[in-house]
Amino acid sequence: MTHLIYFSSVSGNTARFVEKVGVPAERIPLFPSDEPLLARDPYVLVLPTYGGGESGGAVPKQVIRFLNDEGNRSLIRGVIATGNTNFGEGYCLAGDIVAAKCRVPLLYRVEVFGTPDDVSAVQEGLDQFWTQQSMTSK
Ligand SMILES: Cc1cc2nc3c(=O)[nH]c(=O)nc-3n(C[C@H](O)[C@H](O)[C@H](O)COP(=O)(O)O)c2cc1C
Repeated sequence: MTHLIYFSSVSGNTARFVEKVGVPAERIPLFPSDEPLLARDPYVLVLPTYGGGESGGAVPKQVIRFLNDEGNRSLIRGVIATGNTNFGEGYCLAGDIVAAKCRVPLLYRVEVFGTPDDVSAVQEGLDQFWTQQSMTSK
């Protein structure tokens, strides 16, 4: 069953995108004082890029904290990155970084909160990806 875990800052673009995709999703908390999120099931991570075009700082620190938990890291199956093409080479860089570190595929890059075409491509792709996952894992 498709399950997303996402981070979105106060601007909320990624949250808006995830809502449009419309599958079960949990949000990584914004503040250090919030209760940390612990993944219980395999998930695809959706995250924005915040490096201003540089790799340093590209992955939001809330996501780093979440992935520092070994249990959370063990359940990640894929990544969807959001960003803005204004950042050129740095477009959606956080997705490449997390995918490489966790050795999972970067499934999609989505600009800001995604077009209707992005939303339907991701919906269909996630369905397929999850069917493959459930056939190959266990
Ligand atoms: C300070 C700052 C730095 C950013 N750096 C990048 C970047 O390096 N690459 C990129 O693709 N997008 C970058 N963005 C764009 C955000 O990833 C984009 O606005 C995203 O939709 C924000 O998601 P959120 O509102 O869910 O936090 C940056 C945005 C800000 C405000």
